[in-house]
Amino acid sequence: MAHDVRLADVTAENWWKVAGLRLADDQKHLVASNLYSIAQSKFDPDARPRAIYAGDVIVGFLMYDVPDADDDPKVAAIYRFMIDKDHQGKGYGRAALTCAIDEIRQIPGIAKVAISYLPDNAVAKAFYASLGFAETGRIEYGEVHAELSL
Ligand SMILES: CC(C)(COP(=O)(O)OP(=O)(O)OC[C@H]1O[C@@H](n2cnc3c(N)ncnc32)[C@H](O)[C@@H]1OP(=O)(O)O)[C@@H](O)C(=O)NCCC(=O)NCCS
Repeated sequence: MAHDVRLADVTAENWWKVAGLRLADDQKHLVASNLYSIAQSKFDPDARPRAIYAGDVIVGFLMYDVPDADDDPKVAAIYRFMIDKDHQGKGYGRAALTCAIDEIRQIPGIAKVAISYLPDNAVAKAFYASLGFAETGRIEYGEVHAELSL
């Protein structure tokens, strides 16, 4: 159930389960593969890869970036987010994103959370807006940019 959702580290024990999560064929272009993201996180010290658990089951993955100490203003960007196709529509995505925002809020000095999505991702656009993200008008790497002030 959605209230059992939590975020956890991607570890030697669970990374293969994260890598095995799947999207529907028509969603695959919306986000990089989890295997790619896990590899990327090994070479980017700012990356925070997080496994999304519902109870004992891994149902999704997200990754955010904690900015360098000298970045101003400090904005944490959530740049990967997916829920496995068999677990979508159950409230896990909303619960996980809320957990991620709460987690980021605990990081000293972070003023905003940024998120971006492809212009054709109507589900993400409406979903993020309902959590308070406002579009900034910027397009970055072909994606619509939105921010939430903490
Ligand atoms: C976006 C995503 C993470 C949402 O996860 P989820 O667990 O299905 O989301 P939830 O069940 O918590 O629903 C969140 C909101 O999304 C909307 N939503 C979810 N699936 C939907 C669908 N198939 N059609 C329309 N709206 C949908 C609902 O309006 C819901 O709002 P509500 O809580 O007011 O009912 C998931 O659909 C996904 O992984 N999509 C493919 C990858 C992707 O687009 N990632 C984001 C890249 S920016």
